[in-house]
Amino acid sequence: MSYIRSAAFADTGYVVLDSYDQSKDPAEWLDLEYVDWKSSGDTRFAPLASAFGELECNGFWNHTPPRTDKDGVWVQANVEKAPILKARAEVPGTNIGRCRVIELQPNDYVNAIYNLHQDDNNRLNPDGTGWIVRGFFNLSDDPDSFLILREDRFDPATEVRIPLPAGTQVIVDTQRFWHAVWQVGPSPRYCLITSWTSGPELDAYITKYHGAPQTTQPALDPQVVEDAQNEVKRRLAERAATLAAQGKRASGKAFVEEDDFDD
Ligand SMILES: [Fe+2]
Repeated sequence: MSYIRSAAFADTGYVVLDSYDQSKDPAEWLDLEYVDWKSSGDTRFAPLASAFGELECNGFWNHTPPRTDKDGVWVQANVEKAPILKARAEVPGTNIGRCRVIELQPNDYVNAIYNLHQDDNNRLNPDGTGWIVRGFFNLSDDPDSFLILREDRFDPATEVRIPLPAGTQVIVDTQRFWHAVWQVGPSPRYCLITSWTSGPELDAYITKYHGAPQTTQPALDPQVVEDAQNEVKRRLAERAATLAAQGKRASGKAFVEEDDFDD
């Protein structure tokens, strides 16, 4: 047995879809109720679908009974304020797990690289069923900001930088990629993030909206990249030393204790 996966992800692990005309919609995300939830950076989240429809963001595997990131329950208070966002999450017609809007405060490239993490979407996902990937719909207009993906956390040669103007639509295998967002600012970034189950419905959606890897990589000064690598290594060594002094070990997975990363 093995998981059902999208062929579109086989080589690159992500696809960029046709851009959405975000300007025609009201800014529903500004009306939502947000909760504090630590992710990669200074973040809050507005859940649209959660494990039991409550206004909270915990991974479904942390609830009783624990389950994988499927069959999310709509959070009524928020979906009433964001019917368009709910409808957009439902367009692929596949199973939805967690669905929420993230608010990310501005950061810098070093912090983004330090915050690189892999998601845990497929914890408890039964073998033979659809692999869970995540859709990212950029809501705010952040053309100078990037979704950063790396196949290898410490190898900048594997880095993909996807610009984030309003309407950008990307689907990523976030359990495969180390990822984080470099939000240039000065305003926060808002993005609808949805856990989708791979299968024929998602494949048809990707085909319909011409999902494909991006063909050009936005330039970034190699010196900026090298300096960031060195600074991140220094910070990680510092953190490991602090933890060692406390008799703890740094997690091999990521730099913070929470295991439900997002974004
Ligand atoms: Fe993530």
